[in-house]
Amino acid sequence: MLNVLIISDEAKNIYALFKSSNLDLHAEDSHMKSNTLKNDSVDLHRYDIAFLDLDIEGWQQKLLELRQQMPVVTFSSPNTTMAVDAMKLGAADYLEKPLTSDAFNDVMGRYKKKILEHKYGFDEILGTSTPMQEVFGLIKKAAVGESNVLITGESGTGKELVARAIHRWSPRSEKSFMTINCSAIPDTLLESELFGFEKGSFTGAVYTKKGILELADGGTVFFDEIGDVSPLFQTKILRVLQEGEVMRIGGMHYINVDVRIIAATNKYLRIAISKGSFREDLFYRLNVINIHIPPLRERTEDIQILVKHFIKKHASKRKDLLIKGVTSDAMNILRNYPYPGNVRELENIIERAISLSNSPEILSSDLPSFMMDGNLQRKKIIPKLKDAISSAEKETIIAALNETDWNISRAALLLGIYRQQLQKKIKDQKIKPQ
Ligand SMILES: Nc1ncnc2c1ncn2[C@@H]1O[C@H](COP(=O)(O)OP(=O)(O)OP(=O)(O)O)[C@@H](O)[C@H]1O
Ligand SMILES: [Mg+2]
Repeated sequence: MLNVLIISDEAKNIYALFKSSNLDLHAEDSHMKSNTLKNDSVDLHRYDIAFLDLDIEGWQQKLLELRQQMPVVTFSSPNTTMAVDAMKLGAADYLEKPLTSDAFNDVMGRYKKKILEHKYGFDEILGTSTPMQEVFGLIKKAAVGESNVLITGESGTGKELVARAIHRWSPRSEKSFMTINCSAIPDTLLESELFGFEKGSFTGAVYTKKGILELADGGTVFFDEIGDVSPLFQTKILRVLQEGEVMRIGGMHYINVDVRIIAATNKYLRIAISKGSFREDLFYRLNVINIHIPPLRERTEDIQILVKHFIKKHASKRKDLLIKGVTSDAMNILRNYPYPGNVRELENIIERAISLSNSPEILSSDLPSFMMDGNLQRKKIIPKLKDAISSAEKETIIAALNETDWNISRAALLLGIYRQQLQKKIKDQKIKPQ
């Protein structure tokens, strides 16, 4: 049931009002708090809605703090100026004293649906499982603070979604959220993207360009795939975190930037640290708050609600048929599949099923056949790691060469290696123009 936080000198009376109202709110499950809010004595994450008395001292501060995490209904002795001030500071609603149970019923009626929907998720992130509820708590905690955040989790678990939610709920939400995908970008390009450059600083720099860190001043920068950044470049990022300043390429002076950093990785950075490929000091700077999103196979409870959500999201792609759900057979299969590609894979599966289905309910035959046999999945032939790496390398090199019409220098730049290294690899891997 809903947890209500009451902050008022008259909390006892208000508590009585709740009891007398006909709300679908179990008083014994609701947590009523009569003391005034002291920042660390109340665990705000546990509450769904707050009622804040404006006749207490320091209500502005309390309102600012609370509204980051939940709707705040304010009330006071009739006072229009105060009501306007409270709404300006982000109150969800304002009631006049004396409070009546009718007024409570009315307000709770309006927020209850919203709150319950939120309980199934946070922003657009859905999940009813305990680990996801923990993730939502951490998002709220991260949003109110300024600490850097490291989001970890396998590919497709929703790391970017979490990063965006933190920004959206933070006091920086009015400013930009900028993303830099650190994988597959060579250092030179990463540097000009992040730091910008001065006109004339290198051939081709025909204008001055601000980098992402400068553009995001006052906002949030999301370093996606931070585990892929080269050790040399990690030092540059560390400097920004420590000093809060950047210098454009070819620039003469440092520029102060106020950015909040959120980073994400699907790698085990601690292993990278032990191998010397990731700087430990950078790790600790980033990992002030760690949000780990478990793989979907470890929170199968979330599958049902995600399936519903993705059907709603993609149903409109069928103009001829309204897909409303899945049969219980199909749901069984969906629940038992291990999803190596996590939520993204589930979304793709649903999207595909919607396009194939001939009935308003998705049937098991609309699902990919590989989902039917869990054992087959597990018996998949695992190649030797060396061979897997070598074949991935070959594929990537071919892609870069095709992209650049076999211009070796440009392909090397794309791949972030030297031309000579690429030439050697082309020879070793026996790659030929197709
Ligand atoms: N809990 C969730 N609720 C709703 N949608 C989700 C959830 N988790 C992931 N998704 C969806 O799954 C897709 C993948 O999410 P996202 O890009 O955030 O994952 P990621 O962890 O950043 O993946 P990668 O490591 O591959 O970059 C997106 O379409 C996102 O909307
Ligand atoms: Mg991502």
